Amino acid sequence: MKKILISALALLCFVAAKADEGMWLLSLLKEKNIDKMHELGFKLSAEDIYSLNQPGIKDAIVGLGTLDRPFRHFCTAEIVSPRGLLITNHHCAFSSIQEHSSVEHDYLSDGFWAYQMSDELTNSGMTASILERMEDVTERVLSVLDEEMDAVARATAVDSIGDVIVKEAVEGTVLTGQVISMFEGNQYFLFLYTIYKDVRLVAAPPQSMGKFGGDTDNWIWPRHTCDFSMLRIYTGPDGQPAEYAPENIPLKPKHHLPVSLKGIRDNDFAMVMGFPGTTNRYATSYSLATVMDVINAVRYKARTVILAVMKEEMSKSPKTRIQYASKYASCANYWKYSFEQNKALKRLNTLGHKQEIEAEFTRWLNADAGRKAQYAEVLPSLQKAIEASHKYVEAGAYLTEAFAGPELHQFAYSVSGLLEALFDKQLPETERAEIVSDLKQNAKAFYKDYNVELDARLFADLFRMYSDEVGDDLHPAVIDLINQKYKGDYARFAEEIRLHSLFRSEEALLAFIEKPDRRKLEKDPALIAGQSYTEMAIKLAAWNKENKTVIGKNNRLFVRGLLEMDPGKAVAPNANSTLRLTYGRVRSYVPRDAVFYNYYTTLTGVMEKEGPAGGEFEVPARLKELYGQKEFAPYGTDNVVACFITDNDITGGNSGSPVINANGELIGTAFDGNSEAMSGDIDFEENLQRCISVDVRYVLFVLDKYAGARNLIEEMTIVE
Ligand code: ARG
Repeated sequence: MKKILISALALLCFVAAKADEGMWLLSLLKEKNIDKMHELGFKLSAEDIYSLNQPGIKDAIVGLGTLDRPFRHFCTAEIVSPRGLLITNHHCAFSSIQEHSSVEHDYLSDGFWAYQMSDELTNSGMTASILERMEDVTERVLSVLDEEMDAVARATAVDSIGDVIVKEAVEGTVLTGQVISMFEGNQYFLFLYTIYKDVRLVAAPPQSMGKFGGDTDNWIWPRHTCDFSMLRIYTGPDGQPAEYAPENIPLKPKHHLPVSLKGIRDNDFAMVMGFPGTTNRYATSYSLATVMDVINAVRYKARTVILAVMKEEMSKSPKTRIQYASKYASCANYWKYSFEQNKALKRLNTLGHKQEIEAEFTRWLNADAGRKAQYAEVLPSLQKAIEASHKYVEAGAYLTEAFAGPELHQFAYSVSGLLEALFDKQLPETERAEIVSDLKQNAKAFYKDYNVELDARLFADLFRMYSDEVGDDLHPAVIDLINQKYKGDYARFAEEIRLHSLFRSEEALLAFIEKPDRRKLEKDPALIAGQSYTEMAIKLAAWNKENKTVIGKNNRLFVRGLLEMDPGKAVAPNANSTLRLTYGRVRSYVPRDAVFYNYYTTLTGVMEKEGPAGGEFEVPARLKELYGQKEFAPYGTDNVVACFITDNDITGGNSGSPVINANGELIGTAFDGNSEAMSGDIDFEENLQRCISVDVRYVLFVLDKYAGARNLIEEMTIVE
């Protein structure tokens, strides 16, 4: 009894100590954060993390992207060996694992372990960026902008000065650069990366471990998911970035993270470095209705339909199950997020908190004539423009979630330019051959994971949803066509696609390429749908342009005002897929009245959660056996810690990020956030928001004892 009293008191003290909101920029750590980090227990210097003169921890942090969008880092990874070995999440490599899988080699179900480098599999299109340096270029960018520009003109001007700045900076190097806005266009930074293009799959546990708990446990603590996988960066023989080639060699990194076996204790210092994607912390109360009633509600509704169709079709054949595994998982991830975010926004009264901030802003500006002249119109203009844009944002949400739910029309449109080129009688034979080969490649990639029966059902259900939910004046042409020519029979339109579209299968498309027919192409139902999708997207953007200009300008002013209001306060810019650091501590929490959540889980919890084979909570026999043998050393004594939580400020894109202790060593890999604080991307919840990580000792235990992949353990620098 007494013991409980003490720990309850201790808990109260922790809750009273504030977690630090902020995804901080590395070049400003020394100025803004390092003192606070030292207070919390960090033992290294700001230069040990980021310095222009010496290698640092930042050289071990990797942004995972794709060749077509290398800066849009979908996940983070960390280098853990002198040979470019990476740890990231299982869910970050999920689409690669899926890509390499077939009914014969089902790495999703069975896992994948490369016991030698020659077994590693190259992931098509995956990139790995490492930050070389960053720089504040605000003055140069602002010098070409003026307040009167509309949103499009402004973006164009930023792009062109950005191109000039990047060009100067990368001249004579292998670097790739990006100029990007911070604080809603009040500041601009240049980021220079080395971007590697040969990233191979090295290891992944079976999904019964890597995705243990499935969608039921997704976004939930307490958690027992072994959400890790391993990749490796390869370079050309000269050590520079190169596309896949057999003679490529493993990257020799400037730094790799030592891996700690010391584990975690409550209240320990912890920091996370990675590439958070998007946050909206400066959103106003007016935009909350759009987020809740439009973005989240539409996404949830459309994806409920998509997931039900996928699930049913996936259960019909192992082939479809593997083809759609990754599509299903990514659809389900933000489906659940939308629902949980709305719940948290309501429960935590985010609207009320935003209104308080706006009231304070208004009091502040009213206290000074100069400020009044500059800022008095900001909030009223924002409110008006946000309300006026509501209708277009709603149509846009149905366009991206429902209309773009099925896939064939998007594929048809994406290759239609190439197909049209084939009608040109003057086309030289060599060019024709090139186009045909391009088309064949595109087709191969697309149809590998495509099922027209499944997709036709999506066409029927989701096009109907668009027609029912969005006003007639915002219908893409194909919706009117179905309502008139097909008398609103969406199933019949879907049948037309399934049975007669020239895109319905790879064979049908290849046959068409052999004998191209302009009339058939022009009348193709999938292509007509694809064209009208693009047309509608362009129209919506044009109709909403004025509102967007007003919103952009006033958001910028609002944030500028907030920064002026409290000049001494360190605040971080919203996430935008650039490298950030968040520091905090290992911390338990109280999710709701009378409930206490401890800061770690163990293998025992995995066993307790076990469910039927093939389900979300299947536990592999080998893991049960190892648990029974109780030979956990050196990864644990009487148990293995599975996952743990910290109060670090992370979001999507941080998946796979290293959790680093006070000595700069790896203790875990971040993979999720908790549902209770799902409002956190809009309003940070200091007492509730947690970063969920897989403990690195669980990762090592699985590599060593489950997979017998000693080769990988031996590459790492393990600290006892
Ligand atoms: N919620 C996690 C994130 O967004 C993804 C977890 C993937 N697991 C799953 N069961 N879908 O980073």
